[in-house]
Amino acid sequence: MKSINKGYMLGEQKLPILKDISFSVERGEYVAILGPSGSGKTTLMNIIGCMDVMDSGEYYLDGMPIHETLEDDLTEVRNRKIGFIFQNYQLIPTYNVMQNIVMPLLMRGLTYEEAEQQCIETVRLLGLEERIAHKPSELSGGQKQRVSIARALVGHPSILLADEPTGALDQASGKDVLKLFRQLNEMGNTIVMITHDLNVAQSAKRIVRIVDGKLIE
Ligand SMILES: Nc1ncnc2c1ncn2[C@@H]1O[C@H](COP(=O)(O)OP(=O)(O)OP(=O)(O)O)[C@@H](O)[C@H]1O
Ligand SMILES: [Mg+2]
Repeated sequence: MKSINKGYMLGEQKLPILKDISFSVERGEYVAILGPSGSGKTTLMNIIGCMDVMDSGEYYLDGMPIHETLEDDLTEVRNRKIGFIFQNYQLIPTYNVMQNIVMPLLMRGLTYEEAEQQCIETVRLLGLEERIAHKPSELSGGQKQRVSIARALVGHPSILLADEPTGALDQASGKDVLKLFRQLNEMGNTIVMITHDLNVAQSAKRIVRIVDGKLIE
């Protein structure tokens, strides 16, 4: 990212939120973006995840100039390059565990059988074999987060992007998720995790701070 700026209109005026943000993440890194409430973390995450556009600046994802990419093409970029993990899991309540996990692959045009086949290894890695027929409402928070991590992983994205992934979990389940992130990073996954919690951030290999919309390494 080079000199990213982003603001929101407040009446007639634009209120700056992200101020001249420049930073880069190498393949295989595990970075935490740490900052207090209101500092711009989610706004930044939405730009990293290609869910929102910047006002100015340059953003290259895997060498692709996102700032020059049309909105129509960003859907595919999101599907192929980003694995999203949210604080509130964002699972589809009427789908069972397997149906939730295969979603990104179905969106790529795979048949359900092909998608399911491709997910088996990840389901095993996350210890969800016994749960594949359960609905999200029948799972604990920690299990729900493991499902959302599985869903993020199955498409082999360039970045795993997590916004407060332990925010809704008790301490033990939160620790399990962080342990899993370390393991996934050691397996070669690039992780960008956003948090307001120093203890959580310290589990990453590098911490970047965001304060009032500015980044400080
Ligand atoms: N759609 C919007 N319109 C106007 N202002 C917004 C909008 N979204 C966010 N903001 C403002 O931008 C600032 C940064 O918000 P953001 O959600 O990025 O913070 P955050 O660091 O994620 O906070 P938290 O830790 O509470 O989630 C806040 O002052 C917020 O009020
Ligand atoms: Mg936020």
